[in-house]
Amino acid sequence: MLVDSRFIGALAGIVAVASLGGCAANVAPPVTVAAPAAAQWPALVKPDHHDPAIEARIAAILSEMTLRQKIGQMTQADIRSITPDQAREHYIGSVLNGGGAWPGGAKQAAVADWVSLARDYHAASMTTDLTTKIPVIWGTDAVHGHNNVFGATLFPHNIGLGAAHDPELVGRIAHLTSKQVRATGISWIFAPTLAVVQSPRWGRTYEGYSSDPALVRDYASAFVTAMQGDLTGPTTAIATAKHFIGDGGTWLGKDQGETRTTREELIRTHAPGYFGALEAGVQTVMISYSSWTDTGAGAAHGKMHGNRELITDVLKGELDFDGFVVSDWNAIEQVEGCTRTHCAQAVNAGIDMFMVPDDWQQFIEETIADVESGAVPMSRIDDAVTRILRVKMRSGMFAASPIPAAAADSDLASDAARMTAREAVAKSLVLLKNTERSPLPLAANSKVLLVGRAADKVPPQLGGWSLTWQGDLTDDSDYPLADDMLSALQKALSAGGGKVDFSEDGQGVDVSAYDAVIVVHAEDPYAEMKGDIEYPATIRHTARYPQDLAALERVSGKGVPVISILFSGRPVYANDLLNLSDAFIAAWLPGTEALGITDVLLRQPGGGQSKDFTGRLPFVWPADPCPEVAAQPVLFDRAYGLQSSDRTKSAGLPVDNRLSCPTLPN
Ligand code: GLC
Repeated sequence: MLVDSRFIGALAGIVAVASLGGCAANVAPPVTVAAPAAAQWPALVKPDHHDPAIEARIAAILSEMTLRQKIGQMTQADIRSITPDQAREHYIGSVLNGGGAWPGGAKQAAVADWVSLARDYHAASMTTDLTTKIPVIWGTDAVHGHNNVFGATLFPHNIGLGAAHDPELVGRIAHLTSKQVRATGISWIFAPTLAVVQSPRWGRTYEGYSSDPALVRDYASAFVTAMQGDLTGPTTAIATAKHFIGDGGTWLGKDQGETRTTREELIRTHAPGYFGALEAGVQTVMISYSSWTDTGAGAAHGKMHGNRELITDVLKGELDFDGFVVSDWNAIEQVEGCTRTHCAQAVNAGIDMFMVPDDWQQFIEETIADVESGAVPMSRIDDAVTRILRVKMRSGMFAASPIPAAAADSDLASDAARMTAREAVAKSLVLLKNTERSPLPLAANSKVLLVGRAADKVPPQLGGWSLTWQGDLTDDSDYPLADDMLSALQKALSAGGGKVDFSEDGQGVDVSAYDAVIVVHAEDPYAEMKGDIEYPATIRHTARYPQDLAALERVSGKGVPVISILFSGRPVYANDLLNLSDAFIAAWLPGTEALGITDVLLRQPGGGQSKDFTGRLPFVWPADPCPEVAAQPVLFDRAYGLQSSDRTKSAGLPVDNRLSCPTLPN
């Protein structure tokens, strides 16, 4: 998954040939391989949601609307910046709760509070002076369950689902998530993320499923089909294929950066998720912050939010997408010549709904002026409003209020949600090392020493997009139903007569008193650009978290087997941790149900093994802290993963403690 393989070839090839001394002897003469056929945008087979009656009704409503009412319908505001009364007055088409936005600004707001606010916005939209009332649609980032809502079961982030290699599971999670979201009165979900991530430096790596475009396509199809159902059910929600296109391919993994690929590569690597989502009938697409430079044609196309060719000619044209396109959070300001409240180029590019969370009023005024001046044709506005009304009408919002009659929190942490999340955690675990000394699977009556600053905390296993945008400013009291590693081991071992003691840093503990030591390593939670590991920093985990290595050094090599568990949003360089561990598990960001981990770590009280490791790497695992310039950048290939019966040699891996990577041409 590291930096895209061609990139390694380009740079590492220089190093490799030099270090390998050119071609080895006895190498077969080069075989001329036919270039792959130029990739074309495919003709997709999609569900036919076209309904002449709906189209006729939309045309009639459109004919009654003023320009101001139309532009209001194209505007999406954050709930912290608009009241229901303002939404009514300005004919607002959509609201959203950005990460960390809750009803009344209360982090632990109850489901009833969410439902009440949703009902207020809906009532406001149904009492405008429009001839035909148009219901507002509320969108939310439920990207690993309904993660903004207190008490919700949180599923593993997408990287862990990618390791599970289980589209059917992903479909079940999608539907459980839409049930959670609909229970709060919300009916539009900004998911799935379909990035095919090329560099672990990207702070959003964990929002991607895999670097395998085929898996992303399968997951997109399963997710959208399950989440949207027939578009009108009481537990379905409108899905969002995001972020179109190439968000996961930026240079050195820089968030909102420049994706440098040929058109063929864009289609072959970054588009398959959209093919899967469109074939499943996805109703909305969110545009990427990133820009695209066509390295085949040598053409810099600029920010995606201004790319008319890909949004209108390709997505809406060749791929025949008839839902609506939404911009990202203030993203239009990044289009050359634009501000966050004024961007005729983005409107003309084909964006239909504008996420202008705070400055929505100015956006409305400036866009009206653009239409009146002729900078934006009325036909473009009519297309945008038609698409928005089409999705709202298809989802049944005109026929009945999407707000539940009574607030019930039964879906937020239902038995089905918790058991499915626990199943997903178990399936997401990837066993990377398991020597002859490994104690896996542990006996249920084991005496275990648990070490690590993250081992008794829930937030590090959740990552970003968890109650807050960054997954920070929270603690275990915000997740009353969750299990962290300590509570999960306490529950699992007590059932079998075992016990667990906890030490945050392994200092002053007599390790010999235990059957095994479990050391938890973790990244602190992050989201988006705040999680970028910016080049030339290395991707060595212990460069950022030296305390994890220190804790492991205190308990390793003492004659008691050590199991390392890493909570991370991406593969990282971890040879130093691997060398000191008898078993090493990549657990990604598992969510609230850590019992899914002990289900695999421990035998059942009767001695049987309840579950084995089935997870396989969704991305390659790095062999070097600077994979971009490494001759041998890959330690474990994508799809690598051991079972507990597999044993690996414990030969030491080379450890590279550089703190900085070589300078690169930009
Ligand atoms: C963010 C993200 C996008 C999210 C949106 C609303 O910046 O890029 O994925 O849906 O804003 O929170």
